[in-house]
Amino acid sequence: SPLTQDELKALVGKAALQYVVPGAIVGVGTGSTVNHFIDALAGMKDQIRGAVSSSVASTERLKALGIPVFDANEVESLAVYIDGADEIDGHGCMVKGGGAALTREKIVAALASRFVCIVDESKLVPALGRFPLPVEVIPMAAQHIARRFAALGGTARMRLRDGQPLVTDNGQHILDVTGLSITDPLGFESQVNQWPGVVTVGVFAHQKASVGLVGTTQGVVKTF
Ligand code: A5P
Repeated sequence: SPLTQDELKALVGKAALQYVVPGAIVGVGTGSTVNHFIDALAGMKDQIRGAVSSSVASTERLKALGIPVFDANEVESLAVYIDGADEIDGHGCMVKGGGAALTREKIVAALASRFVCIVDESKLVPALGRFPLPVEVIPMAAQHIARRFAALGGTARMRLRDGQPLVTDNGQHILDVTGLSITDPLGFESQVNQWPGVVTVGVFAHQKASVGLVGTTQGVVKTF
């Protein structure tokens, strides 16, 4: 029988182990695919110094498995950062933030020389813009930023949890923007980054993936 999406995520999560540098601290992202990576990483925890994590959820999972977690301020650089994505194009540009962890993800990615993106094949897109774009914003700027997206043809909705605006690990809110076609990811990321009140835009183009591992029914494929 064909592999389920979760089995594809587990395959690619395990395949990412080959990019972990022995003796080093590894950057760890967030999400259900990364959770499989973290579980696999536990099997080689004696060969690494520990991890820098991009979310409270991943930190808890790492610690529960006995993997030491360092603060990002304690490391100067990381050899590798391993994370999933909500969508990824053929150049390694990504949309991230479906799990609301995009700001810390961009920070940890910035520390790393290499970004290894792990996804199942459903995340591959010809161009970014299918997945609603997450944007972390300062709460008082939310409506102003929503109007700016409307001027670009998008529709921004406040992400809710239990009927209230979701509060991120950083105490801010998330807008999810639909209806955008992001033909120039680098230019788009630069533009939105300049809007006052934007904490982080979920387009990762300036920090795109350097390695793309895709879990397919044919096995794990390295797309670049
Ligand atoms: C977290 O904020 C996102 O950037 C994740 O990388 C993304 O949502 C992938 O999650 P899954 O592996 O659960 O699809």
